[in-house]
Amino acid sequence: CGGKTPQQAKVLKIGTDAAFAPFEFQDEKSKEYIGFDIDLIKAIGKQMGYEVKVQGMGFDGLIPALEAGQIDAAVSGMTITEERGKKVNFSKPYYTSGLSIVVKQDNAAIKEFKDLEGKRLAVQIGTTGANFAKKVKDAKVREFNTAPEAFLELKAGGVDAVINDLPVNEYYIAKTGSKDAKIVGKPLNSENYGIATAKKNTELAQKIDKALEDLKKSGEYDKIYEKWFGR
Ligand code: ARG
Repeated sequence: CGGKTPQQAKVLKIGTDAAFAPFEFQDEKSKEYIGFDIDLIKAIGKQMGYEVKVQGMGFDGLIPALEAGQIDAAVSGMTITEERGKKVNFSKPYYTSGLSIVVKQDNAAIKEFKDLEGKRLAVQIGTTGANFAKKVKDAKVREFNTAPEAFLELKAGGVDAVINDLPVNEYYIAKTGSKDAKIVGKPLNSENYGIATAKKNTELAQKIDKALEDLKKSGEYDKIYEKWFGR
């Protein structure tokens, strides 16, 4: 020991489930990962002096990948929850979200939360939406690998409603021209998204928080927010 460690580009390996527009999705042509989360983590990486490399994976595989050291951080519209907090560290909240209900345009039976009782619900596996749906009385819950698959099942008539994050539902209806679907009722709750890192990597968690704070102060965060959510 005692020698100099070789200089190498510091790389931040990011895991994400890139089927969650406008937070993370793939550009149709270039197949590049794009979205609010992607821009944000790239800006955070830059601020920290790291090169960001994004890797796509299943949402339910993100925490195991962090625990196994395969990725340094998960940025995937991931809600900060107590249960997840036992396995990973979360950054300070970077986006306030919440769950909502999506039904077919012609569905007159489901107007709010209480109407979900006994209904067939589609959710993405491993999400807060899935946990929520499982608590609905007598509901039949079907779990899909991605949110778009849950929406497809709604379209096909296999389920009565989808429970998923409100901004993603709004984007799905507005941007994909899915005029056959609508959001009903009030948001079901309020949730905060955070950037997850491995439990043992507390230094990285601190660096990310510091960078996030810097980006909020400099106005860079607002710019990214405007780009994806401004009207
Ligand atoms: N916010 C929800 C959760 O943390 C859903 C996140 C799903 N994210 C994704 N990229 N598919 O459980």
